[in-house]
Order: sequence, then C-alpha cells, then structure tokens
Amino acid sequence: MSDRQQHWDSVYRDKNHQRVSWFQADCQAEAAEINALDLPHDSLILDVGAGASRLVDALLQEGYSQLHALDIARDGLVIAQQRLGDAAANVHWHCADIIRAELPRPIALWHDRAAFHFLTDPADQQAYVRQLRLHLAPGGYVMLAAFAINGPAKCSDLVVEQYNSEKLLTTLGEGFALIHSEQRVHVTPAGAEQLFEHCLLRWAG
Ligand SMILES: C[S@@+](CC[C@H](N)C(=O)[O-])C[C@H]1O[C@@H](n2cnc3c(N)ncnc32)[C@H](O)[C@@H]1O
Repeated sequence: MSDRQQHWDSVYRDKNHQRVSWFQADCQAEAAEINALDLPHDSLILDVGAGASRLVDALLQEGYSQLHALDIARDGLVIAQQRLGDAAANVHWHCADIIRAELPRPIALWHDRAAFHFLTDPADQQAYVRQLRLHLAPGGYVMLAAFAINGPAKCSDLVVEQYNSEKLLTTLGEGFALIHSEQRVHVTPAGAEQLFEHCLLRWAG
C-alpha cells in the first residue's frame, strides 16, 4: 500500500468526515453548474478524489445515469455508499490512485474538487494530465477546483500545489480552452476561510 493511500485511508478511518476541512454539507450549487453544461443525462461523469462527497447524491437526484466516483481511500467511498444505500448501486465506484487507475472513457465531464492539488511531484502531475487527456471525450469538460495561489499551502497535513487558471492551463498542456475561472471562499466546519480557484475548461480533443 502506498504512503498516499495509507494517509487517506487513515483520514477517513480516524476522523469525523463531517468535520474535515473540505466538508460540504450541500453540493446542489455544484450540481446546478454541471446541469448548466447541458450534457445528456447518460454522459459519463467522473468525480476524481470523490471521497465522501455528496456531489454524487446531487447528480443522481438530477438523473445522471453514468456516474463514476474515484478515490484512493476505500473508506471515503464507503461513507458515500452507506449514505446512499440502495442508490449506491447506480454509481460506479473506483478505489484507485488517479495517476495509475483504469478509467472508463470517453469522459464527458472530469470533476475534481481538491484532489489534483495534492500532486506536488511534477512526474505525478504529468501522469494525472496523461490520464485526463487519454480518457476525456473530444469536447469534454474539466471542472477543477484547487487551492488558489494565495490560498492555503497545506491540507490534511500535506503540502499542496497552488493554482490560478493560467498555471492550470500550462500544466494541462495544449488543447484546453478556459471557459470560466473564479476564486471562491470555502468555509471549513471549524469556521476558517480557504481560497479556491475554480476552473471550467473544455478540451478540443
Ligand atoms: C480534500 S479531499 C476532497 C474530497 C472531495 N472531492 C470533496 O470535495 O469533498 C481530497 C480527496 O482526494 C483523494 N485523493 C488524494 N490523492 C488522490 C489520488 N492520487 N488519487 C485518487 N484520490 C486521491 C483523497 O482520498 C480525498 O478523498
């Protein structure tokens, strides 16, 4: 088991997942942003580093039928599965490291909230980008949120890579068009403010 997997498994095993800094009680706003892309409801959507996030719940409610949730920590996914109950059978679950996971394709929407920024080794970042470019559909979207340049330098005791939209575009390489980016403040359960850069990009393919 890799150090990365051990770290994240212990986070979900030892902490209250509703008290971790990234917890969001409600993902309706994100689901509405995804709806605004006007994708057919049988489009393949992958949530990278989904953990125990409630985004899958919101997207199931919206009627998306090809949802894939991937995380390196099995326990994070199990929390989501138990919360969903029978509806968990309508999601494809992948317990894997995104940089070497077997992924479905073609992905219409690659969603990542606060997973990519944990990759600080350029070789790992490029492995992530290879996965993205290999599995994203032509015309596919990337919705990615990472800590902003002036945001936190660490999360879950790990150093992160901070981004703005220009740096993200450079990291992803040619072929991506930035549709929209903005900085947003996330308020943690402990009341701290964290600045995120939210980016929506589209791949020419
Ligand atoms: C800060 S949490 C965000 C969780 C979720 N996206 C949310 O918004 O609630 C980061 C998540 O990414 C997962 N993660 C970290 N590195 C990963 C990797 N290399 N491959 C897959 N998942 C990873 C962690 O296990 C954790 O669930």
